[in-house]
Amino acid sequence: MTTAPVTVRVPAKVNAQLAVGPLRADGFHDLANVFLAVGLYDEVTATPADALRITVSGPDADQVPLDSGNLAARAAEALAARHGRRADVHLHIAKDIPVAGGMAGGSADAAGALLACDTLWGTGATRDELLDICAELGSDVPFSLVGGAALGRGRGELLEPLTVGGTFHWVFAVADGGLSTPAVYRECDRLRQAAAVTVPAPEASPALLAALRTGDAAALAAAVGNDLQAAALSLRPCLADTLRTGTEAGALAALVSGSGPTCAFLAEDADAAARIGKALTASGTCRTARATTAPAPGATVVAPPTRR
Ligand code: C5P
Repeated sequence: MTTAPVTVRVPAKVNAQLAVGPLRADGFHDLANVFLAVGLYDEVTATPADALRITVSGPDADQVPLDSGNLAARAAEALAARHGRRADVHLHIAKDIPVAGGMAGGSADAAGALLACDTLWGTGATRDELLDICAELGSDVPFSLVGGAALGRGRGELLEPLTVGGTFHWVFAVADGGLSTPAVYRECDRLRQAAAVTVPAPEASPALLAALRTGDAAALAAAVGNDLQAAALSLRPCLADTLRTGTEAGALAALVSGSGPTCAFLAEDADAAARIGKALTASGTCRTARATTAPAPGATVVAPPTRR
């Protein structure tokens, strides 16, 4: 137990591959989800308080729910309930990950809050217990805790760490406004039904896993894929312009990140990433573009906070 504030830095993710199986009876889809943590971070600071309170800073702060829909609040409550204590904590989220952008920003905040509260309260939860709570909170939350690169099976929560043999350069085109993840999955099911396709069990691409292992950006570009992309484009057709702009600026691959609407571009190196970012910003097809690298570490206690 400590009374000093605890700050946890936690990364965004991109899905190098998102293979989506048929709709399950529980409303989820089985996935083969190749997660890569990328160097865009939120910071969650936990401070002792009389009652659970959430504050958010950053350019998109007004879009983050402050009620029980906030995954960070639910993370604190879940940990407190398991350890028979009150969730009397002030959580401050310094937000840099796009909100509802398909980059697991809400999941990052949940994983960050969990680790911050565990450290603040001296709960001493095991890694497995934290991962259990993460899986209860959402399909992407376990990956936000562990970071790096991993294959997510089940609904994405069953993780197998992956070896990455180099640094990959990515550019993210952040859109105005978010997309609802359930709505994108529903649209994916609707499009599949309309096309009367038989959906196979999702499998990770061996070529993609090999490209990650060897750090080969061109090979990775040839193997990336996102089964939610058609649905995201159907709900937000203008994303096609964003994807085309990045491709014309020299991206090795262009794809929607997760359920979107953020678009992700794989670049040859840092110079190419900067050029692609500039072209995207100048094109007016996105709100802003961010260049960064992957893989990035998972949720990490940092002191003192680097942002307020
Ligand atoms: O697990 P999470 O709360 O992030 O999921 C949000 C929604 O996304 C689910 O309610 C479901 O509609 C959809 N989803 C899905 N299959 C998955 C993960 C999420 O259908 N594997």
